[in-house]
Amino acid sequence: MNPDEKKRRAAEAAMEFVTDGMLIGVGTGSTVNHFIAALAAWRGRVSGAVSSSEASSLLLKQAGIDVADLNSVGGLELYVDGADEATRHLQLIKGGGGALTREKVVAAASQRFVCIVDDSKVVDVLGRFPLPIEVIPMARSLVARQLVKLGGQPVWREGLVTDNGNIILDVHNLEILDPPALESEINQLPGVVTVGLFARRPADVLLVAGDEGVQRIDR
Ligand code: 5RP
Repeated sequence: MNPDEKKRRAAEAAMEFVTDGMLIGVGTGSTVNHFIAALAAWRGRVSGAVSSSEASSLLLKQAGIDVADLNSVGGLELYVDGADEATRHLQLIKGGGGALTREKVVAAASQRFVCIVDDSKVVDVLGRFPLPIEVIPMARSLVARQLVKLGGQPVWREGLVTDNGNIILDVHNLEILDPPALESEINQLPGVVTVGLFARRPADVLLVAGDEGVQRIDR
């Protein structure tokens, strides 16, 4: 089965968590795009969505789903998003699409985070996928030097400006043995907006689509 078909199956499996009248947190990326397509069929039954990116907001609106401002709603029951890497402890690397900051905010506002991936994303140790970090533009070099001291090789994702007006550094060659500790350490570097490690608030449910079907892993 090709990877996009697996993504579609993982996304459709997440519909099991959607209930009538729900306001849903929606992530960003090609896997989530399948989820938005599945939600479109339900548009009269969900009350709307809080989106993690301008790209997903556009797709949601095109699908006829109301997009609400997080500031004007209370907490969310459900957040559905993809990941670039996931462990069986449900810790994640996210930000391949550059939307990590709003993704982390919406995840933090949600009671349940359902992460949808194809089986190529599941790893024993995070870090094969370069770790995305959103940084304010003036701090790019300063933060990059600090990341080298932590043993990584930061690469500026040139040409990309995030929805928040910032830049992304992708950190290569990190073997992340203690994800919550590294998340805290990088979060504290001046100039860092968000690190794409989701370990302090991991997913609650991981849906992994493979050739044999969709496996559910609960935290
Ligand atoms: C965007 C993300 C995405 O969830 C991640 O990049 C996975 O993307 P895809 O579903 O296209 O493989 O974190 O910032």
